Amino acid sequence: MNDGELLEAHEKLLGRQPDDRAKYRLLPLVMLFVLSGCVLFAATYLNRYSGHFDRSIFNENLLPTGSGPVDLKPDPIALGRRMFNSGGACYSCHQPNGQGIPGAYPPLAGSEWVNGAGARVVRIVLDGLQGPVHVGGKTFGAAVMPAFGSSGFNWSDEQIAGVLSYVRQEWGNKSKPISTDEVAKIRALTADHKAWSEADLLGVK
Ligand code: HEC
Repeated sequence: MNDGELLEAHEKLLGRQPDDRAKYRLLPLVMLFVLSGCVLFAATYLNRYSGHFDRSIFNENLLPTGSGPVDLKPDPIALGRRMFNSGGACYSCHQPNGQGIPGAYPPLAGSEWVNGAGARVVRIVLDGLQGPVHVGGKTFGAAVMPAFGSSGFNWSDEQIAGVLSYVRQEWGNKSKPISTDEVAKIRALTADHKAWSEADLLGVK
């Protein structure tokens, strides 16, 4: 009896038997693919975003080193640029390029007031300026410079220091920044002062 006949004989006796070997299960294979995919994704993700686990790249638990509290103050120049260009502020008269408008608004670029003594320019912004003023050899006086201190737009010391630090280094100006403390000091000295005149300011050293 050969194999074929043997199988036939069994089939006759027992009926057709299920072929266990043919019962191939697909699930483990699918799982293998899915899990491999996950591992590959995870590895690629870590490789790309882990910063190679370097503590200097990202560590939300790392305490700041060095002494003193962490300084979270915004960059004064960035703050100043934003204030300069905020609705209705400096740019609307002195223009975004700091050139002003001939005959009406004096330029801030290259201005001896902007680049001169902090004590004077802080007073101009805190309380405003009125009457004839000479800027770059030209006379202005047709319009009034509004106050940005408590009698006007009520900007904080930090905002005024920022805007002045910004204009003192923009458009080719190369003057030192103005500190918040300096603005605070002058604000206290000149409380209730009305708009300045050129003559008043020239008396301020
Ligand atoms: C409504 C228009 C207006 C706005 C807004 C304005 N200024 Fe003026 N500014 C003037 C005028 C007008 C003068 C000249 C006043 C005069 O002739 O007495 C002047 C003068 C000045 C001066 C002295 C002269 C010069 O050109 O250097 C400075 C500095 C100055 N402004 C800075 C600023 C800054 C900084 C801001 C924003 C915080 C600002 N101004 C907002 C109108 C304005």
